[in-house]
Amino acid sequence: MTATTNHLPQDEVHVWTLAVPGDPDTLATFRALLAGDELARADRFVFARDRHNFSAARGALRMVLGFYLGITPQAVVLHYGRHGKPNLAKECGLRFNLSHAGSWVYLAVTSACEVGIDVERLRAPGRHSRLDLARRFFSVDEVAHLAALDEARQVEAFFACWTRKEAYIKLHGRGLTLPLAQFAVSVDPDQPARLEATPWLPSDLQRTRLYDLTAAPGYRACLATGSTRALTLQQRPWSAFPPPAN
Ligand SMILES: CC(C)(COP(=O)(O)OP(=O)(O)OC[C@H]1O[C@@H](n2cnc3c(N)ncnc32)[C@H](O)[C@@H]1OP(=O)(O)O)[C@@H](O)C(=O)NCCC(=O)NCCS
Repeated sequence: MTATTNHLPQDEVHVWTLAVPGDPDTLATFRALLAGDELARADRFVFARDRHNFSAARGALRMVLGFYLGITPQAVVLHYGRHGKPNLAKECGLRFNLSHAGSWVYLAVTSACEVGIDVERLRAPGRHSRLDLARRFFSVDEVAHLAALDEARQVEAFFACWTRKEAYIKLHGRGLTLPLAQFAVSVDPDQPARLEATPWLPSDLQRTRLYDLTAAPGYRACLATGSTRALTLQQRPWSAFPPPAN
C-alpha cells in the first residue's frame, strides 16, 4: 500500500508550522484528539505551558497524519523506535517527524523517505559558554569554523549548526547514541545547509539533504531528508490546513 495521495505527491515533503494557540477552547480541541498514553504524558508535565505545547503538537500531528492517510486523527496509531522516534506502521508509507521550541511546532511529512526536523529558539549564551557548548556537541571542524566567525554572527551560526545537526540526528532516530562529533554540517548561517562529512556512515553523504526552513525572528529550523532524489519542499502555515484537494 502506498500513502501517495492527491494531497502528497511522492516527491514532496510538506512542513506544517503551528504557533501554539493560547486560547483554552482551541487547546481543548487539540487535546481531545490525543490517545490515552498521550493524555497521561501531557498530564505529567509540571508546567501548563509544556502541557499545552505537547498537546497542541500531538493534536496537530494527528490531524496532519489523519488528513494524508484519509482517516480520523483519533484513528492514527503511533509506534516508537528504540530511541523514542514516533512513526507509523511501515505499510502506511508515510514518514514524519516533529519538533517544538518556544511556542512553535514544526511537522514534516512525506512518503519519499525518512525525515528529521528541528526548530530552536535562539538564546544568546556568552562567547565563552557558546564555544564551550560547541566543543561539547560539535565536531572539531565545526568548532573551528564557528570560532573564526565575527562575534556578531556567532549566535546565528551556533543555532544554524545546532539545528542542522539535530535534524540529521532525528532523521536517523538514534538520539544521542549517534556520535555528534563524528559528522559535520555547514556552519555559516548564510550558506546553504549541507552535510559535509559522515565518517561514521560514508554513504550518507550521497543520501542526505539538509534544508534550512523559514522561521520566525529569533528562531532557526532545519529539515533533513534521507533520499538521493531532490525533493520539493512545501512549507505551510497552520492557517492553510487542511489544503484544498488537487
Ligand atoms: C529527543 C531528541 C530526539 C530531540 O529532542 P529535542 O531537540 O529536545 O526536542 P524536539 O522538539 O526537536 O523533538 C522532540 C520530538 O521529536 C520526536 N522524537 C522523539 N524521539 C526521537 C528520536 N529518537 N528521533 C527523532 N525524533 C524523535 C518526538 O515527536 C518528540 O516530540 P513529542 O514527544 O512531544 O512528540 C534527541 O535528539 C535529543 O535528546 N537531543 C538532545 C539535544 C542535543 O543535545 N542535541 C545536540 C545538537 S548538536
